[in-house]
Amino acid sequence: MSYPVLDGHKTLLNYERGTTSWPLDSYLSRHGYETSRAVLGGKYSPDELIGEVKASGLRGRGGAGFPTGLKWSFLPKGNDKPVILAVNADESEPGTFKDRVIMEENPHMLLEGIVLSCYAIKSKTAYIYVRGEYVMSLKRLHYAVEEAYAAGHLGENIYGSGFSCDVTVHSGAGAYICGEETGLIESLEGKKGQPRIKPPFPAVYGAFGYPTIVNNVESITSVAYIAEHGGEAYRGWGTEKSAGTKLFSVSGPVKRPGVYEVPMAYPFRDLLNNECGGMLDGVGFKALIIGGSSVPVVTGETAMKICMDYESCSEHGTLLGSGGVIVIGEGTCMVRTLMVLLRFYHHESCGQCTPCREGTGWIERICSRIEAGEGTERDIDELYRIADNMETRTICTLADAAAWPTKSFIDVFRSEFEEHIRTGACPHGNAFPDHLNLRGGGVPQRNGDPEHAFVP
Ligand SMILES: Cc1cc2nc3c(=O)[nH]c(=O)nc-3n(C[C@H](O)[C@H](O)[C@H](O)COP(=O)(O)O)c2cc1C
Ligand code: SF4
Repeated sequence: MSYPVLDGHKTLLNYERGTTSWPLDSYLSRHGYETSRAVLGGKYSPDELIGEVKASGLRGRGGAGFPTGLKWSFLPKGNDKPVILAVNADESEPGTFKDRVIMEENPHMLLEGIVLSCYAIKSKTAYIYVRGEYVMSLKRLHYAVEEAYAAGHLGENIYGSGFSCDVTVHSGAGAYICGEETGLIESLEGKKGQPRIKPPFPAVYGAFGYPTIVNNVESITSVAYIAEHGGEAYRGWGTEKSAGTKLFSVSGPVKRPGVYEVPMAYPFRDLLNNECGGMLDGVGFKALIIGGSSVPVVTGETAMKICMDYESCSEHGTLLGSGGVIVIGEGTCMVRTLMVLLRFYHHESCGQCTPCREGTGWIERICSRIEAGEGTERDIDELYRIADNMETRTICTLADAAAWPTKSFIDVFRSEFEEHIRTGACPHGNAFPDHLNLRGGGVPQRNGDPEHAFVP
């Protein structure tokens, strides 16, 4: 099956890529802030806007896919405390770099989405919690916020509507765990970024003790599109359970790695061959991690049957996650790939829960031993057993995020683990072939490029 609609489906990347699309005048030339003006002027009441977001079928783009409108309706009724919107721009999952493109290239659409979301949930205060290493995103956001205040799109009594909204850009310090919503809240409050035990959930007791909605950058930016065109228009793409369009960040040995917006249910095969131009010449397609490094890996053969939506991914034994598509080429050692992932999760564990603090280090050590050719027959089952015991026993799902790939790498590529043990060495020799650029897996390093330099 090939997907019929592509033209005109852009909702978030609706500008010419590679241009200076980020300043205010460019956004205004694309009808920017007309929607917030119309909505604040009476197009929708807050409840009607929540209704549109529910009708759109938008599911959170941060990874878990929780329906955004439903999350908003969890805010306590008759609440007299201030409500806070925390926009999650921590984006530290290996393989995921799509929010960065929104912040660098379309920051005003995110700000318009924030104003609209705040209006819907009756909040006057929003924070954007940005991954500390995202220097360009931070610069562009600070600049956009200043422009928006100066032009009256943010601040007191916006467009004379009586509605006020303040936005603060907050830089993290480079910890993956601060992307977990309660870790983010702790960090925003100036504490160590350690997740909280839930309940209470942030919607009831969040940042500074106030009801707080945490949403991903892509989710909030999508609200601007939904408020402009209506929930039904958004629902026109995708499937019943996976509505709208989605950004996918593609890395690995493909001809054109990068961030692409496609309708949900778009076949992976078409994303690979059309948008990404196919595999690099001479490199076979071995495996796929479709939703960021924590989701189960699938073989190249299975990948070709997957459509980019929640249902199809789960049918094929994986998860859509955050849309961080990692293509793995032939010649890559899967044991070493898992070892590198586990090193990341071990390093990023905040240490509060024993199964995570000890477990991530334990499985990383066993995997490294196997990779070095020093593993024993028992090690594979031991690795699997420990991963299995880490799942669902911790405060947050970082432990699960390390356990899922471990189990799936063994399930799908067990023979490679066995070969390391049988031969006492890594059969791939140079475990990362030349086509793998480990400094980003083929992700274009644009920040140093003068064409994309920050020019206020
Ligand atoms: C360890 C960990 C890291 C996470 N990192 C991010 C992140 O960088 N960005 C993000 O939006 N969500 C991240 N999440 C998910 C958030 O906890 C939360 O579900 C999300 O921000 C909600 O937004 P959404 O409903 O719009 O998807 C992470 C979760 C965990 C457990
Ligand atoms: S699971 Fe890991 S990262 Fe999450 S709270 Fe527990 S120790 Fe911290």
